[in-house]
Amino acid sequence: MKKIEAIIRPERLDAVREALDEKGFPGMTVTEVKGRGRQKGITLQWRAGDYRVDFLPKIKLEIIVDDKDAETVIDTLCEAAKTGRIGDGKIFVSPLEDVIRVRTKERGKDAV
Ligand SMILES: Nc1ncnc2c1ncn2[C@@H]1O[C@H](COP(=O)(O)OP(=O)(O)OP(=O)(O)O)[C@@H](O)[C@H]1O
Ligand SMILES: [Mg+2]
Repeated sequence: MKKIEAIIRPERLDAVREALDEKGFPGMTVTEVKGRGRQKGITLQWRAGDYRVDFLPKIKLEIIVDDKDAETVIDTLCEAAKTGRIGDGKIFVSPLEDVIRVRTKERGKDAV
């Protein structure tokens, strides 16, 4: 199994959720986060001068999938989250040891 963590623009969340739902991946954890990438936040021009925002609001999605589904989910995320402008986000993929469905105690990919 893989843990896919995606940092996306808040305004793309609905599109991403719909796209993943359509492909058969309804489960996810959503967290409101702040972050910065290569541009180190953003500089706003204001009458009184420049104003730096060091951290921008983003959404973090955590999605656990079977290994064979990881590329599908990554492609879907990229397509639905992209605007083409800087700050579209990032996806981190890592191996996941186990999953347990609390109600049934199913383990591994049966529990995803
Ligand atoms: N190296 C990193 N480690 C952890 N989180 C990161 C890292 N880089 C980016 N992020 C997270 O991803 C969010 C979006 O990053 P962003 O899309 O700006 O990446 P980027 O590398 O600057 O690409 P771009 O040039 O397209 O803006 C950040 O707000 C932060 O939450
Ligand atoms: Mg950036």
